[in-house]
Amino acid sequence: MAANWAPDSWTDADARQLPDYPDAAALDAATETLRNYPPLVFAGEARNLTESLGEVAAGRAFLLQGGDCAESFAEFHPNNIRDTFRVILQMAVVLTFASKLPVVKLGRMAGQFAKPRSTPTEVIDGVELPSYRGDNVNDIGFSAESRIPDPQRMIRAYSQSAATLNLLRAFAQGGYANLHQVHRWTHDFMGRSPWSKKYAETADRIGEALEFMKACGIDPETVPQLAQTHFYTSHEALLLPFEQAMARQDSLTGDWYDTSAHFLWIGDRTRFEGSAHVEFLRGIGNPIGVKCGPSLEPDALLRMLDTLNPARVPGRMTLITRYGYDKIEGHLPKLVRAVTREGHPVVWSCDPMHGNVVKAANGYKTRPFDRILAEVRGFFAVHRAEGTHAGGIHAEMTGQNVTECTGGAVDVTEQSLADRYHTHCDPRLNASQSLELAFLLAEMLNAEMAERRKVAA
Ligand code: PEP
Ligand code: CO
Repeated sequence: MAANWAPDSWTDADARQLPDYPDAAALDAATETLRNYPPLVFAGEARNLTESLGEVAAGRAFLLQGGDCAESFAEFHPNNIRDTFRVILQMAVVLTFASKLPVVKLGRMAGQFAKPRSTPTEVIDGVELPSYRGDNVNDIGFSAESRIPDPQRMIRAYSQSAATLNLLRAFAQGGYANLHQVHRWTHDFMGRSPWSKKYAETADRIGEALEFMKACGIDPETVPQLAQTHFYTSHEALLLPFEQAMARQDSLTGDWYDTSAHFLWIGDRTRFEGSAHVEFLRGIGNPIGVKCGPSLEPDALLRMLDTLNPARVPGRMTLITRYGYDKIEGHLPKLVRAVTREGHPVVWSCDPMHGNVVKAANGYKTRPFDRILAEVRGFFAVHRAEGTHAGGIHAEMTGQNVTECTGGAVDVTEQSLADRYHTHCDPRLNASQSLELAFLLAEMLNAEMAERRKVAA
């Protein structure tokens, strides 16, 4: 257990990006309620995930993390959950089939509500109001009333997370994820994408392999794993009063876990030295991510790794780099070298989303698909040159047919952004773009594996 740590020791540190709740008694009442609610995940599940991520850190698996930029109360619907879940399954199948590596599946789902903002207020037509900070804090509507932080929103976010997680568990274990269904995970609207043809071919080949295995006596009756999958949840541990209220001491080990999700990450704006967010996560047992942007220097990163993972547990730390397509090759090598030199076992994951936001001529915030791919290519190139494993991808994506990121095989143009732009925060890849990304990732991962086999031979 971490020394000199308590679930509330973060309150003595520098806490940024937190709302100012006008009613302290209402905040206390809400967090007290949450403290008495059941945990959403169990410590043992978080430990299993750490173990699987340890395999990624060792180069024997790949991490696929994806979901909404921000979940919202308005978009809460079983079809949305199902569609995102199935596009993640499709991506995982494509990646596993090409690389022959197990894929660790981690949703930005069932709790991804709180958002860090670049400015504390927002000005529209001369009117200045507090910024929207996510549905668990305030309302996106632009009125003074909407923007008041309301602690009861944490309770609603908890309920939505619980219901989402319940459905995800049912999908993962109740038959939907059965590999024999691989053809059925396709979305109708994806018919136009050339990648859905390629997916159907992959699915055919998997089907053949399953037939063959069945003839050998291996089917879901004899090997239940074929009908199930592990699916984990994650979000940014930003809203500390909520995360603290979800902290529980594991009866088995005595360690503290944040039971709001299996995996929690610290954002690029809250990972600075002396941060309350680092202080809170230091003491919890879950696997942890840290967003690494251009301002992070190797020495500061090493100090942070010593703070967050002094025992150097493989799988405890995932470093999620997010530089921008034109910066990654300049910034990433020095971090990789420092971490390798010091022998910290980390998962390197690529977030090709947050460094590639542009404003379209019509005012929409978007991300060009070719820049996203260019950052992923840069990520693989750096790891190839350094001899480290390009271990994962972190994407903002949805199973819906939205038009938020431009480009892709079914071209989303700047003009068509207005058609189905639904995100509550940053632009997401739609289902076709996500699948396309998976095929391109699979190619790069395959090349890494081939290179490794060559070196080993
Ligand atoms: C995010 O992942 O939604 C986010 C805000 O990322 P970052 O902290 O990397 O900017
Ligand atoms: Co985002």
